[in-house]
Amino acid sequence: MAGNGVFAEILDGEVFKYYADGEWKKSSSGKSVAIINPTTRKTQYKVQACSQEEVNKVMDSAKSAQKLWAKTPLWKRAELLHKAAAILKEHKAPIAESLVKEIAKPAKDAVTEVVRSGDLVSYCAEEGVRILGEGKFLVSDSFPGNERTKYCLTSKIPLGVILAIPPFNYPVNLAVSKIAPALIAGNSIVLKPPTQGAVSALHMVHCFHLAGFPKGLINCVTGKGSEIGDFLTMHPGVNCISFTGGDTGIAISKKAGMIPLQMELGGKDACIVLEDADLDLVAGNIIKGGFSYSGQRCTAVKVVLVMESVADALVEKVKAKVAKLSVGAPENDCDITPVVSESSANFIEGLVMDAKEKGATFCQEYKREGNLIWPLLLDNVRPDMRIAWEEPFGPVLPLIRINSIEEGIHHCNASNFGLQGCVFTKDINKAIMIGDAMETGTVQINSAPARGPDHFPFQGIKDSGIGSQGITNSINMMTKIKTTVINLPSPSYTMG
Ligand code: G3H
Repeated sequence: MAGNGVFAEILDGEVFKYYADGEWKKSSSGKSVAIINPTTRKTQYKVQACSQEEVNKVMDSAKSAQKLWAKTPLWKRAELLHKAAAILKEHKAPIAESLVKEIAKPAKDAVTEVVRSGDLVSYCAEEGVRILGEGKFLVSDSFPGNERTKYCLTSKIPLGVILAIPPFNYPVNLAVSKIAPALIAGNSIVLKPPTQGAVSALHMVHCFHLAGFPKGLINCVTGKGSEIGDFLTMHPGVNCISFTGGDTGIAISKKAGMIPLQMELGGKDACIVLEDADLDLVAGNIIKGGFSYSGQRCTAVKVVLVMESVADALVEKVKAKVAKLSVGAPENDCDITPVVSESSANFIEGLVMDAKEKGATFCQEYKREGNLIWPLLLDNVRPDMRIAWEEPFGPVLPLIRINSIEEGIHHCNASNFGLQGCVFTKDINKAIMIGDAMETGTVQINSAPARGPDHFPFQGIKDSGIGSQGITNSINMMTKIKTTVINLPSPSYTMG
């Protein structure tokens, strides 16, 4: 159970502690923040409401710890990461239980998230020793006018303190996807988990604590965004921000100083379906891509753009599959579970009502109980409807009928987002042409969008983000290049 066994020390009465300087602590604010269970809509957990003063202390210890960590051999950093990965997997049950309770993730998916996270940490350790163990050697005489009098050595050095802000939908996996690259590269971490998801994240952090990382290297502060959000992101002690979430990221990037940013801010992933597509394959991917975790994934299929000639057939196939989705509690491992909050459910409902007023065809009856929204496919959606452009982040999927490939590409590219997209066709040449024309960070051919496997590059363009993630890209992003130039008194040519 959460907060029990090896995790007992992270709980004080009914409030989970925050983690700083290698210790679990109570905030001197004496205040806590409630985490509402999306299913019961009652308080499930409480976490500390850290103060700005506590953030300052955390930044100081993260800075000192980083200096020592940067002098820790790479193999040793990797060894500790492997240890943390094993501990994380060993304790998957209580962490998954927290995911079920605080973000209503279906039980099996919650376990998968923890296991995937352990694998990510191990892969990162392995990749880190390879890519950080080598640099470049350049000689000066390749540039006009130079003799071979200079040897240039380049290596990758850490940035310092990384501020990691993961979203509610993957509070463990998208936290470790920032923590592990940061640590292997010699940085320290200040983690600000989402409130909904904070308890899962605190358990994950304890696994790193149990692995024996040095004091102050990993820190996790909880609290209200209104009190410590801007304070953290604008803190002079932060040397890099890695953020995944909504358009708060745009505000953060405007306020952050001259530091590297890694941002992933959602998407409106289009699924373009051509006349020759295998419609059973498409329907299966629309279900998986549009409705897994109730559509609360940035990479979810968020609009289907299907050629009119096959639209009826596709709609029938998708309807048949939607009818088979189980709807209910995450504990029962239902396919569709309550969305994360009441405000999120209200927002989704607003999009549905707008589509209704403007004449969309409801393939199922709209049904909602509390935060639980039944899966809904909206046919005949038109560009004047909000749902054609906005991200519901819920189990509601719009379908737009198109009459040409150009129309599909145009809709995809008119979005302010550009995360991923997919195209279904048996004609690989067309798939490549369409994929190249789609203004998105990734295009999937004949499969739904997805971030994983976690070592693949993952990036969005336009409002979908800054920079690229994936294990190798994140390690590189969390380092700087340092060069040392050896100046020779006279030219020297090997074998010359
Ligand atoms: O929600 C944003 C995530 O990066 C999506 O990850 O494709 O593994 O669900 P996923």
